[in-house]
Amino acid sequence: SAAPRIRIFEMGPRDGLQNESRLIPTADKIRLIDMLSDCGFDKIEATSFVSPRWVPQMADAAQVMAGIRRKPGVRYAVLTPNLKGYEAARAARADEVAVFASASEGFSRKNINCSIEESLERFRPVLEAAAADGVPVRGYVSCVVACPYDGPTPPEQVARVAAALIDMGCYEVSLGDTIGAGAPETVAPMLDAVLARVPAGRLAGHFHDTGGRALENVALSVEKGLRTFDASVGGLGGCPYAPGARGNVATEEVARLLARMGWETGLDLSRLDAAAAFARSLRSSADA
Ligand code: HMG
Ligand code: MG
Repeated sequence: SAAPRIRIFEMGPRDGLQNESRLIPTADKIRLIDMLSDCGFDKIEATSFVSPRWVPQMADAAQVMAGIRRKPGVRYAVLTPNLKGYEAARAARADEVAVFASASEGFSRKNINCSIEESLERFRPVLEAAAADGVPVRGYVSCVVACPYDGPTPPEQVARVAAALIDMGCYEVSLGDTIGAGAPETVAPMLDAVLARVPAGRLAGHFHDTGGRALENVALSVEKGLRTFDASVGGLGGCPYAPGARGNVATEEVARLLARMGWETGLDLSRLDAAAAFARSLRSSADA
C-alpha cells in the first residue's frame, strides 16, 4: 500500500520573499512560482494583498497573480488581512485566501495595527464574502510560542484564537512560531492546549528556523497528529514585523525528514533543489 501522506504547503513566494530588503523583480517571483508549480505541491502561497505601505515587497500582488502559469491541481493562495485585500484577491483569481491573527497583543498591533479582538471582527466579513463566493479560507495564528514584544505566549491564548478562527469558518488553522523560538518542550504544551479544542486534521504547523529546532518541532507535531506543514523552499523568509525572525523551515529539508520517517509528500526532490537554488539566488547578500 502507498506510504501515508503529509502535505507541505509551500510558503516561499510569500512568507519567504516578503521580508527581503531588495525589491525583487515581479518576473523573478513569477519564475519561482512557476518552478514550484512543477515540484508536486497542491498548495502554494503566492503573495499577499496587504497594504503596500506596510509590506512594499508584496505591492505587485496583482501582477504576480496575473503572470503565473496555473498548473491544474495546484491552488494558489494569498494573504488577505481585510475585505479590501479579499476583493483584490478575488479580482486576481486567488484559489484560496488566508486571514492572519496573532496569539499575542504586541505582535497583533505591530503587524496588522489592531488588537486580537478587533482583528477577529475584521476577518468576519472576509469569511462571509468568501463563503458566498465558495473560496476556502485558511487562518493563521502567529507567535504561538513567543512574541518579540510580549515574551512567552500562554498556550491557552493560542487555543482560544485558533478555536475562534475555526468557529468563524476557517477550514484549517496554521500555528505560526513566527520568531522560531520553539523547541519540543515548548511546542508540545502549546499543541496539547490547541488539540483540546481543534482536531489535528484541521491544524498545520508553521515553524520558522531561527533557533534551529524547526525540524524537531515538525517531527513532534507529526507524533501529535498534524499532517500539514508550511515551509519555504531554500529556507527563505522572515517577517517584517518580527525582528530577527529567520526563514521558514526549508521545504527540501522537511521533505527529506518526512521521507526518512516513512511519509509520502508527493514532492520531486530534484526539482525542489533546483527551485531552492533559484530562491536563494534572489536573496539580497545582506540577508544571505
Ligand atoms: P491600517 O493602516 O490600520 O489600515 O493597516 P487602514 O484600513 O487604516 O488603511 C490604511 C491604508 O492602507 C489605506 O490607504 C488603505 O486603502 C490601505 P491610504 O488611504 O492611506 O492610501 N489598505 C490596503 N491596501 C492594499 N491592500 C489592503 C489594504 N488594506 C488597507 N488589503 C493593515 C492595517 C492590516 C492593512 C496593515 O497593517 C497591513 O497591511 N498589514 C500586513 C502586514 C503583513 O503583511 N505582515 C506579514 C504577513 S503575517 C506573517 O508573516 C506571519 C505568518 O507567516 C505566520 C507566522 O509566521 O506566524 C502568516
Ligand atoms: Mg511566517
